[in-house]
Parts: sequence; structure tokens; C-alpha cells
Amino acid sequence: MKMYTSAPRRSRRPLLGFALLLLAAIAPTHADEPPPFSPRVTVFFSPFVHKDGATLYRAVCQGCHMPDAKGASGAGSYPALAANPKLASAAYPAITVVHGRHGMPAFADYLSDAQVAEVVNYVRTHFDNHYADALSADDVKKLRATP
Ligand code: HEC
Repeated sequence: MKMYTSAPRRSRRPLLGFALLLLAAIAPTHADEPPPFSPRVTVFFSPFVHKDGATLYRAVCQGCHMPDAKGASGAGSYPALAANPKLASAAYPAITVVHGRHGMPAFADYLSDAQVAEVVNYVRTHFDNHYADALSADDVKKLRATP
């Protein structure tokens, strides 16, 4: 505390003012309403440190594909992953996650091979998908190399 003499304290004031402004800007939002739908915020600002498929799905995918994986349409069209026959081949969802697909961003730079495998295996064994052949991190590594 002693380190801060009057000079540095003054210099911190603009920051405090900015913080208060920010608070004032977000304070009037209705506390009982969910935050506005904003998949991009989820995609580009999350650190994605999670390791298990369920947590990764919640952190990375559900903003667009919805918690029940049934997809959504409105501002964009987000296909259902639930009961989706296109997941029969593990390579299809894995390539989609790594390289992106049309409106879906690529996650190559955001997820490790193990994380891609975890989340793909999770989706392929949940939400009415019953594909037991699991993808390994090594499989993802190979898919990464094939654009
Ligand atoms: C920013 C929104 C967004 C996020 C986040 C997202 N997706 Fe997608 N996803 C899409 C869109 C849009 C499509 C449709 C792409 C197209 O037009 O073919 C799609 C398509 C897919 C498909 C192909 C479905 C089909 O029927 O062809 C799979 C599989 C998929 N996503 C899996 C995932 C997984 C797993 C995650 C999380 C790691 C994820 N997505 C995160 C938007 C998103």
C-alpha cells in the first residue's frame, strides 16, 4: 500500500472512471434474463482449458448448437447434432471442428487434438447418437494434416 503515493493514485483514476462507466452501462440489463445470444463471444474469448467432452461441449459448441444439440435457426442456421446420421463417420465431425464448415468457424487454433477427440466422442455418444467407435487424439492429428 505504501508504494502508492499520491502520484500513481491520480493516474489510476481514469481507469476507475472507465470501470464505473462500464458498470453503469451493463447495470440496467435485466438480471432475470439470460445474456443475449452471442456465439462469437464464446468462440473468441474462451480459453478452452477444459478436458472432458461434456464441459467442452458446453463451453464451445452449445452456444450455436444449443444445450440439447437440436440446433437453432434465427439470426443464423445451426444444424442439429442430435440424432444426426452424418456423425456416423467420426472423421466428418472432427474435420468440421478442426477446419470449420461454411458458417461454422475452424477450431484448429483453439482446441488440442485431445480436446477435439473428447468433444467429438461426446457428441457421437450423446444426444441420441450411439456411435461407439471412439476417435483418438492421434486420429485428430492426422485429420489436421489433411485439409
Ligand atoms: C459459431 C457457431 C458454431 C459453433 C461455436 C460450433 N458450430 Fe458446429 N456448426 C455451425 C454451423 C453454422 C454449421 C453449419 C455449417 C454448414 O453450413 O454446413 C455447423 C455444423 C456442424 C456440424 C455438421 C453438421 C451437419 O449436419 O452437417 C458438426 C458435426 C458440428 N457443427 C459440430 C460442432 C461441434 C462439435 C462444435 C464444438 C466444438 C461446434 N460445432 C461449434 C456453427 C457452430
